[in-house]
Amino acid sequence: MSSSTQWRDDLQRQLASIAPERRRALRSFRPAGAPGSLESPTLPTNSDPNPAAPLLDLASNDYLGLSRHPSLVAAAQAAAAGEGVGAGASRLVSGSRPVHAQLESALAHWLGRERVLLFPSGFQANLAAVTALADRHSLVLADRLIHHSLLSGVRASGARLQRFAHNDLAALEQRLQAARRERPNQRLLVLSESLFSMQGTSPEVGALAALCASHGAALLLDEAHALGVLGPGGRGLGYGFNGEDGRAEIALISGTFGKAFGSGGAFLAGGSLVMEWLLQFSGPFRYTTALAPPLAAGALAALACIQADPRGQALLQRAARWRSALEAAGWPRPPGTGPILPLLVGDDGRALALQQRLEAAGLLSVAIRPPTVPEGTARLRLVLRHDLPEGSLERLLAALGAPPCN
Ligand SMILES: Cc1ncc(COP(=O)(O)O)c(C=O)c1O
Repeated sequence: MSSSTQWRDDLQRQLASIAPERRRALRSFRPAGAPGSLESPTLPTNSDPNPAAPLLDLASNDYLGLSRHPSLVAAAQAAAAGEGVGAGASRLVSGSRPVHAQLESALAHWLGRERVLLFPSGFQANLAAVTALADRHSLVLADRLIHHSLLSGVRASGARLQRFAHNDLAALEQRLQAARRERPNQRLLVLSESLFSMQGTSPEVGALAALCASHGAALLLDEAHALGVLGPGGRGLGYGFNGEDGRAEIALISGTFGKAFGSGGAFLAGGSLVMEWLLQFSGPFRYTTALAPPLAAGALAALACIQADPRGQALLQRAARWRSALEAAGWPRPPGTGPILPLLVGDDGRALALQQRLEAAGLLSVAIRPPTVPEGTARLRLVLRHDLPEGSLERLLAALGAPPCN
């Protein structure tokens, strides 16, 4: 083998090792069923040259149905016309626009945090957050099921990583105690999420924050899937834990605009010290083009919509009805209380077959398989949205049919 082609051979070997039921494919499809939704023309991809009829989207994270909301569309259009489609430079060069500052200050006020900084994506915000709070001398204690972006942040920080069982605060406490015993002055960082996107579950955030505070550990809470939906007025489960009035402090909250906010981009929110550190030192903040003005304007319009009409509560009530109906139909009750309803199937092939059965009935839901979830826990990730038409649940139940008997 010539050394000049070794990289090709390595990639080839890795691709060939993927079992057919684990192979990913890009799909394009036309979302359908949202009242007043625009029919979006989609670009065919190589693997899907002829997109089929519109499918009812039970997969997207546009929980509040805001991505096509007229006020978001108008705000993004006006920003594109006035400020340009792209910012053209980083925030510290010439990429900052008034809309960035407006959005940062509106979010800080809404979340009760001293300061907010915007990022082009949640992945990048998480990289920045972990590298701000941990370095190669630190120990990071992470929920076993945290998002890949947080793990990438740990790798980038050079910190040592220990995982604790999902949402298991007793297990975390043991690790915190051991860490403090072994190295009393070590910097400790705990990573968790307020709504786990593949499980639908949430930790006890108040108890988690108090536990971290009692061991002098910083807590980074990823609220990507909770913002707009969970917590008071959709402010997330970390709302109020800012170190005031005797309450424990969450050092950093990360959030994305790519889900309930119906736009794109992300932010970190925290106290002035850590935010100033990010501004001065964070590579993922400084060395990247500023969030595109139309996306920032769209996120600002989404925040106004959420403040004027918090839709999260109604969505949660609907999610409770869906959980009960699935359970009554013989499926395992999807864990959690939020709009993510994972239907645990176990076997990869079975999860894919279920996805295909739903698609044949005009419904789009995606089978989630390892390595995204642990081995043997393949699932259909059903996602509820505010703008799903009446009758969607009945269509889903009919398409699912009877649950398989084990
Ligand atoms: C928990 C969590 N954190 C962070 C991200 C990344 O956010 P973004 O899509 O804005 O990069 C995601 C999205 O996939 C996520 O699910």
